[in-house]
Amino acid sequence: MKSRIVASAFAAALVSASVTALADPIEDTQIEINGGEVVLPTRAPAPEFLKDTFDEVLSGWLYRDPDTRAMETDDFENPGMIFVDQGIDLWNAVDGSEGKSCASCHNEIEDSMKGVRAHMPKMSEAGDDLWSLENFVNNCRVERMGAEEWGWNSAEMKNMTSAISLQSRGDPIDVAIDGPAAEWWEKGKEIYYTRYGQLELGCFNCHEENAGNMIRADHLSQGQINGFPTYRLKDAGIVSIHQRFTGCVRDTRAETFKPGSPEFRALELYVASRGAGLPVEGVAVRH
Ligand code: HEC
Ligand code: HEC
Repeated sequence: MKSRIVASAFAAALVSASVTALADPIEDTQIEINGGEVVLPTRAPAPEFLKDTFDEVLSGWLYRDPDTRAMETDDFENPGMIFVDQGIDLWNAVDGSEGKSCASCHNEIEDSMKGVRAHMPKMSEAGDDLWSLENFVNNCRVERMGAEEWGWNSAEMKNMTSAISLQSRGDPIDVAIDGPAAEWWEKGKEIYYTRYGQLELGCFNCHEENAGNMIRADHLSQGQINGFPTYRLKDAGIVSIHQRFTGCVRDTRAETFKPGSPEFRALELYVASRGAGLPVEGVAVRH
């Protein structure tokens, strides 16, 4: 009973214009990190297929409060950087039956992983599956190191994807959505526009129709993934892309897809393409 009241209040808050006060994102156009050493644009022209919906695609950073925004502008204040350091330690650590570390083959992470995150997810090495960054990491661990797979949302995996993503900081998101990726993209789009759960809400209800509006005390962004992996203050830790999707689907009171599932990888490709041109911010800070 109680949960039904909460649920319907939630849905009502979302659809009633009188409750959802419009709160525009701040006007800033860039994130200046370490006193301007790194400068990240926060806006990009919307990709062709979104032109009827948005003029611009916007970083989630623009919707956060000043304290949260400030944390991302200084690598010493950004709590995510601790996890990046742990990822770099893992990069150099020997593991598995082959006696190799990532560095044994890929050498310096700064060089070999530069730009990699900006093109994820993409088709697998064999070209018959769509892989997220996590799949590429596990493929090397299992096939090339003789090591155990890491769990999708394990600390090791999130530390590693954080360390790899940082090497692409500033590179515009640029994912292939044609060729063999096209059917994945279509599948992801279908999921984005499907209403799930008791509340019958789809991603589009919140992040497209209500982007810029308040939902309870939360300022709804476009739900972009260029900031991931993200340090989330609420979780006091790193959150992966699929972990964030899980949270959002659960908020609609629906059963969610599994992290790493084909559905979430397809959705990841579609959402990534909606943010084409926005820079990789990882590791971003969100509340
Ligand atoms: C035995 C050598 C070897 C080891 C050890 C190894 N890799 Fe790889 N890795 C490769 C090869 C070969 C490829 C495919 C060609 C390429 O992209 O360099 C690859 C591809 C990748 C890719 C995809 C890059 C892209 O642009 O598509 C990622 C990410 C990656 N490796 C991460 C790792 C991580 C993280 C580790 C350690 C946990 C690791 N690799 C260990 C050889 C290795
Ligand atoms: C009931 C409303 C609601 C629905 C439906 C919803 N989300 Fe969210 N989502 C939120 C809220 C609230 C936040 C936190 C504030 C923000 O960044 O928008 C959020 C945050 C996000 C973020 C993080 C953005 C950033 O910059 O940190 C992503 C990515 C995201 N959502 C994707 C999705 C996807 C994909 C779906 C569909 C599976 C979805 N959301 C469905 C409410 C929703």
